[in-house]
Amino acid sequence: MPTRWWQDTIIYQVYLRSFQDTNADGIGDLQGVIKRLDYVRDLGIDTVWISPHFDSPMDDNGYDVRDFCNVSPDYGTLDDFKALLSEAHARNMKIIIDMIVNHTSDEHPWFLAAKDPTHPDHTTFRDFYIWQPPRMNDQGNPERPTSWVSWFGGSTWTYNPPTNDYYLHIFSAKMPDLNWRNPAVRVAMKAVIQFWIDLGVDGFRLDASNHLEKNWDFPEANPGYEHFSNLPKHHEYLEELSRALFEPYDLLIIGEAGSASREEALRYAGYDSHEFNLLIHFEHCWADIDEANNVTPGKWAKGSVDVTKIKRSFAKWQQVFANQGWNVLYWHNHDQPRIVSHYGDDAIHHRRSALMLAYCLYLLPGTPIVYYGEEIGMTNVDYTDLSDFRDVEVFTEYGNFKQNGAHHETAMQALRDRCRDNARTPMQWDDSPHAGFSTATPWMKVNGNHSDINVKTQQKQPDSIWQTYKTLLHLRKHERLNHGKVTFYTLDHEQAFVYCVTGKTHDYLVIANFTDKPMRYPLDSLIKDYTLYVANVKNAQAKSPRFAPFEARIYRHQHNRTSSAMI
Ligand code: BGC
Repeated sequence: MPTRWWQDTIIYQVYLRSFQDTNADGIGDLQGVIKRLDYVRDLGIDTVWISPHFDSPMDDNGYDVRDFCNVSPDYGTLDDFKALLSEAHARNMKIIIDMIVNHTSDEHPWFLAAKDPTHPDHTTFRDFYIWQPPRMNDQGNPERPTSWVSWFGGSTWTYNPPTNDYYLHIFSAKMPDLNWRNPAVRVAMKAVIQFWIDLGVDGFRLDASNHLEKNWDFPEANPGYEHFSNLPKHHEYLEELSRALFEPYDLLIIGEAGSASREEALRYAGYDSHEFNLLIHFEHCWADIDEANNVTPGKWAKGSVDVTKIKRSFAKWQQVFANQGWNVLYWHNHDQPRIVSHYGDDAIHHRRSALMLAYCLYLLPGTPIVYYGEEIGMTNVDYTDLSDFRDVEVFTEYGNFKQNGAHHETAMQALRDRCRDNARTPMQWDDSPHAGFSTATPWMKVNGNHSDINVKTQQKQPDSIWQTYKTLLHLRKHERLNHGKVTFYTLDHEQAFVYCVTGKTHDYLVIANFTDKPMRYPLDSLIKDYTLYVANVKNAQAKSPRFAPFEARIYRHQHNRTSSAMI
């Protein structure tokens, strides 16, 4: 297969609301992204993915769309969006946008018509959404149709008095699910996607794309995810979109399916698939869940990090897509905690663990996605008051924790460790009061550590996290590591993260201690022929089998192959 542009690119994910404010309203905007394009390019990145920019009541920060063909006034205008495209393209950069296909806002005109029997367009739009009558309980009282639980923690059903029935929403009540079985919905969604293609976007990240089909028998279940996620028919809808809209253009399509199997992943994003180009799965994202915790359960239950699980996941996906598709590499996005707080150490070993994590990811083959602020080691929030949080999910889950018997402080700690707001705080550009993000009070509190952790400071330090990201990303480009071949070692080792990858001129060997405990790792024949290229500790001993907590080294050796086939 000839190389496609997205196989050579590096992506930077921008959470628009928190990246850069330029009009002093405390909210990031499109002009802010334009202002920082050179910053992003300087890092070695050429594609920017922006989180939803559409008009929205912002119940879920724009994932609840009120008008698919307009820009939220919080973020600017359609002209600002066009300017972003042309400024990016002038720099040979690409812009991909988040396209929300599973649901709309409850303030979208389609839903306003659907929920109101007196609306002139009621009959046209009623079946754009999914309605079910109340279920009668044993006492003869009306109840929710099923006990399905939404991804944000409450019921998936909300009652609509004027129609005396319930609508389905697998996220918040302000995000009613579209009925993809209705051909008119598919026509309407294709039209809005076409609108952005015509404007010149370079691709889409298709939000929540594995949820498009539902089990229309609506069986009773709790939580019932199997009835509204990953149902086979959603592939048909994705394929319809792809054949009609994506394949005729040279677009990058990124889909997400958190728990896709190997077979499913290839169906989504194998080279001969007609759905996505890249698949985001979440397998490595929660390798530290304490299954015994039933007070703040599931992803909220922080346990110890299982390094073998993370390595196995990386190794598995490299193998799944070898020759059959293309890997996407990322530590986390806007839905997971900050990686240095999550798998590293945001206190004593902040810099060292951030670099260790960078070494472990950014030499692997595939297309990387760097999440804004990761390049300076931004950390989880330091909030002490529930009202500091912003995410809709936080408040439902806080209530659930309390119901499970959690004390306030236990619930707050679970939020600080795991909630999505951790990854959504304003970008830390400098040490000024609002971190250079805005001159006004930001929509969400800046992390208190911005006086130490910020771009300006790190740009002046030769061995900062920012400098290392820049070096690694440029090395990645120069060595064409996106196209490398990888071998993982000692997958069962409970501390070491070790792999070797082929580059254009050198082979690279990464040996990292992924834990906060000292580690012994026999180097023996592994480093024969290799010299130490870089390490995240001062005076690293190239030949020493002893690794300090989070110590990581990259060795390399020059080869004289012309092709990169090693394994
Ligand atoms: C997004 C979330 C969002 C949800 C609903 C997910 O795929 O990443 O941030 O809340 O979809 O749109």
